[in-house]
Amino acid sequence: MIQKDKNLREIYVWQLPVRVFHWVNAFVITILCITGFIIGDPPAIQHATAPSHNYWFGIVRFVHFFAAMVFIVNYLVRIYWLFAGNSFSVLRNYYPLTKKQWRGIKETLKVDVLLITKNPIYDIGHNPLAATTYGGLFIIMILQIITGAMMFSVQSNAFWAPAMQDLLIRFNGFFPIRSLHHWLMWAFVLFAIVHIYLVFYHDYIEKNGIASSMIGGWKFIAQPIAEDYEKEQALRKDVEHLEKEKHNKK
Ligand code: HEM
Ligand code: HEM
Repeated sequence: MIQKDKNLREIYVWQLPVRVFHWVNAFVITILCITGFIIGDPPAIQHATAPSHNYWFGIVRFVHFFAAMVFIVNYLVRIYWLFAGNSFSVLRNYYPLTKKQWRGIKETLKVDVLLITKNPIYDIGHNPLAATTYGGLFIIMILQIITGAMMFSVQSNAFWAPAMQDLLIRFNGFFPIRSLHHWLMWAFVLFAIVHIYLVFYHDYIEKNGIASSMIGGWKFIAQPIAEDYEKEQALRKDVEHLEKEKHNKK
């Protein structure tokens, strides 16, 4: 990879598991929204053909459930990576608990939403506002899995089904759970529209290759920010090395 602008440096940001998670997730969510929308509002063509040719709705439901399984497994891998990944993909990025993150959210809102300043904030990983929305999406993903499993449990003999059936009864049955599952679909649709717009907006404004970074893993970062990051990494390595030596001497 050759970067011709001397003021920018390449930094490897998104490791392979994050990129695989992202594209599998984006693909299955699209499938789940389309099939879920059809399940919620089926067109009246079911009666148009003979019963032997009339299993299309069963196929739609099967595709929804199969995509749901892929969605769950993919998410479990990402949860593992929230603890095992590099500094850009670990859990603490996604929930704003520090003053620095809140300041970052305020500054990003000024650029992206309120449009009162043109000076973008340069981050290597997610900016704090984007990271917080991903943190919110991670919670919505859990809710979607639980509400989906509650509905699926009535047709399942799996070991977890009785617990989910109890939960379904506790929450007053199908109607509220199905409605919640339905409305959460719109949260994914809204997120995807805003997310894709903002990714390309930032790519254009910051010229940091952010859109393609989710494919290759690399971003173009301003020289001073990249140097600070590399110094921090070197320092962290030194500390880890010293700690290991101390541990070995004991
Ligand atoms: C992004 C994730 C998902 C989206 C957007 C989504 C969307 C939907 C929608 C819109 C419906 C129709 C609800 C209605 O009646 O209006 C539905 C039904 C359903 N979904 Fe999902 N879903 C997702 C994930 C899951 C998961 C992870 C599971 C299983 C664990 C699941 C299981 C079900 C079941 C069992 C039904 C009812 C099917 C039926 O009665 O025919 N969904 N889904
Ligand atoms: C053309 C389509 C898309 C492109 C180019 C794209 C690109 C990106 C990029 C560059 C990032 C990192 C941005 C940042 O630092 O804030 C990202 C993160 C993310 N995107 Fe997308 N995206 C697309 C579609 C989607 C869709 C459809 C979904 C799901 C509905 C999605 C969900 C996410 C999530 C959850 C993250 C956070 C990933 C993580 O930290 O693990 N993306 N995307």
